[in-house]
Amino acid sequence: MSAREITMRHALMALVLLGAGGPVIAADIKAGRQVALGCQGCHGMDGLSKQPDAPNLAAQPAIYLVKAMAEYRAKARQHEQMNVVAQALSEREVADVAAYYAAIEIEVVKTPQ
Ligand code: HEC
Repeated sequence: MSAREITMRHALMALVLLGAGGPVIAADIKAGRQVALGCQGCHGMDGLSKQPDAPNLAAQPAIYLVKAMAEYRAKARQHEQMNVVAQALSEREVADVAAYYAAIEIEVVKTPQ
């Protein structure tokens, strides 16, 4: 295989990866921590739910969190509180807060027998 063919393969692979994840925005975890101050009442700074109806966000993949936020923003997913929250955030803030929650490490202590 020539060097040019190898380069082409890499370019194609990069396109496939980009296609899978949508546009890639470099995320800033520290900035995301600031955004998460507005989420903590329900989702916690540790990403563990503080309200019975709010899901845990700790260690969820950023791609999953960004997708959920986009759905709330577009109201493709309806939830009074989250529709308001998602609409108040920029794409950058969503990418950052997703990176923050994704970076939290969790450990499973017990699974049901
Ligand atoms: C007032 C409480 C409240 C606040 C504040 C809040 N959320 Fe939520 N969030 C919820 C509830 C309740 C749900 C479940 C909604 C549903 O049933 O779709 C939810 C769902 C989500 C989901 C979907 C998770 C999944 O697995 O489907 C994401 C992502 C999320 N919130 C992110 C955030 C972020 C980021 C912030 C801060 C910028 C935030 N939320 C602030 C209550 C809140």
